[in-house]
Amino acid sequence: NVFPVVLSGGTGTRLWPLSRALHPKQLLAVTGGESMMQGTIRRFPSNDGFEAPIIVGSETLRFLIADQLEEFGVVPTSIILEPAGRNTAAAIALAAHVALAADSDAVLVVAPSDHVISDYVAFRTAVEIALPVARSGQLVTFGIRPNAPETGYGYIELGAPLGDVAGAHAVARFVEKPDEPTARGFLDAGNYAWNSGIFVFSAATYMAELETYAPGVAAACAAAMAGSQRDGLFIRPEPAAFEASPSISIDYAVMEHTTKAAVVPVSMGWSDVGSWAALWEISQQDKNGNAFAGDVVSVDSHGCLVRVDNGPAVAIVGVSDLVVVSTADAILVVPRSRAQEVKSVVEELGARD
Ligand code: GDD
Ligand code: MG
Repeated sequence: NVFPVVLSGGTGTRLWPLSRALHPKQLLAVTGGESMMQGTIRRFPSNDGFEAPIIVGSETLRFLIADQLEEFGVVPTSIILEPAGRNTAAAIALAAHVALAADSDAVLVVAPSDHVISDYVAFRTAVEIALPVARSGQLVTFGIRPNAPETGYGYIELGAPLGDVAGAHAVARFVEKPDEPTARGFLDAGNYAWNSGIFVFSAATYMAELETYAPGVAAACAAAMAGSQRDGLFIRPEPAAFEASPSISIDYAVMEHTTKAAVVPVSMGWSDVGSWAALWEISQQDKNGNAFAGDVVSVDSHGCLVRVDNGPAVAIVGVSDLVVVSTADAILVVPRSRAQEVKSVVEELGARD
C-alpha cells in the first residue's frame, strides 16, 4: 500500500506577514483558491492507487488542518499531532509507524505541504518510476534542475543510471544546504540536482536507516508511538518521549549518510514558494512584470509583487523590484532580491515578546 505522508509542520517565516505561527503558509491560499496543503492532497487521489493520506502537523494547527480536509471531503488515514516540532526526520518516523501498523510493506510518498507543482502528469510519472525502486529498498528523491546557486536546498550529485529502471539514478552524494560558493560549484559542475523534498521509500527501509544514522530519533519516535493516544482520526504521540527526540531534518539525519539513495530527475513545474521572490516568479505578471493582488494602484513601477490581504490599500510610484505586503496588523516592504531576509524580521519580533 502506498501512503502519502503530508508534512504540515513548518511556519513559513519568509512569507511574513501573511504566514504566521497559527496561520502558516501551507494552510493559506497563497497561490489561488485552495491552500497549498489542499493542493498537495489533491495530488494523491484515492482512485489512483493511493491510500488516504497520513497528515503530520502541529497540535496547535489541528482545527485548521481538520477543517481544510473536511472542506475538501478527504478523510485521512490519520492526523498525527506533534506536541512540539522535532523536524522532519521525526515527523516522518511517526508516519512510518502508522503505516507499518497497517502494512509491513507500506511505501511512503513524503510530500511537504508547501510546494507548488504545476505539471501533475510529470509528477505522477516520476512517482511511478520511483515506486519499484522504493520497493527494492532504496530511498528515492526527486531531483529538480537547478538554475541558481540557492543555499536553501539540498544538492544531489547524480550517479550512474540504475540499470533496470529508466529515469532513475544512484545518488553519488547528497549535500544539504551548502554555502554559496559550494552551491555555485555544484551548479557549474552540471551533474547536480536540487532535492525537491519529496521522498519515496518503504516505511521499513526508512526506519532501518534512521536506526543506523539517527538512533536517538528512531528510539524517541518508537517510544512516543508506543505511548500514543488515539482520538478519532487524531493520533497524539506521548509528549515527553517525543520531545526527547533530537530536532533534525531527514536531509541531515539520513539523506547525507545513506548509501541507499536514488534520484528521479523530473521537470514538473516545481516551486517551494519559499519566499516572496519565489511567489512573484510563479505569479501571473502584467506587462511590466508586476504581480498584484487586492487593492493596488501602480504608476510607472516594474517587477513588483504587491499584495493587500485585509490591510490598507497600497500605491506604488516609480519603484522597481519591490515586495509590498499589507495585512491587518503589519506591512512589509523589501527589495525582491532580499526577500530571504524576511525570516530575520520574525526572529526579531519573536525576541521582543
Ligand atoms: N509535521 C512536521 N513537523 N512538518 C515539518 C516539520 C516538523 O517538525 N518541520 C518541517 N516540516 C515540513 C515543512 O512544513 C515543509 O512542508 C517540509 O516539512 C520541509 O521542511 P522545510 O523546513 O521547509 O525544509 P527546507 O525547505 O528548509 O528544506 C527541505 O526542502 C527543500 C526543498 O524545498 C530539504 O528537504 C531540502 O533538501 C530541499 O531542497
Ligand atoms: Mg521548505
